Amino acid sequence: MEAELDRELYEAACQAREKAYAPYSHFAVGAAVRAADGRIFTGCNIENASYGLSLCAERCAIFAGVKEGVREFTALCVTADTPGPVSPCGACRQVMAEFAITRIFLTNLQGACKEMTAAELLPYAFEL
Ligand code: THU
Repeated sequence: MEAELDRELYEAACQAREKAYAPYSHFAVGAAVRAADGRIFTGCNIENASYGLSLCAERCAIFAGVKEGVREFTALCVTADTPGPVSPCGACRQVMAEFAITRIFLTNLQGACKEMTAAELLPYAFEL
């Protein structure tokens, strides 16, 4: 585990993963974001029989904060049972870029951790 990992955020992401609703892929993902005021919001992936309606854990967590009025996030942690740090999908990268999250911890259940910024994960992101 890298020293700079926000351990509280990692634990929150691991706990949120336990709530994943993934009866189709059987791939459970958990995420947690930290708001600028310190609050933590969590998310898990939520699948649907109409597969395209499925929601990723990262967007679930970010939207949970946004709907409470948060607009500034200092960090995000995502975790899954992967051999190395889990790599977020393109849609989630675009949402991370929207809020310019600077500390994104990609982790797995064994404690592997890679820290990246939203800009590193999605260079040349779409903007209006
Ligand atoms: N998934 C996430 O929750 N986050 C990602 O960044 C990648 C994929 C979910 C979506 C789906 O429920 C399952 O993982 C398999 O794709």
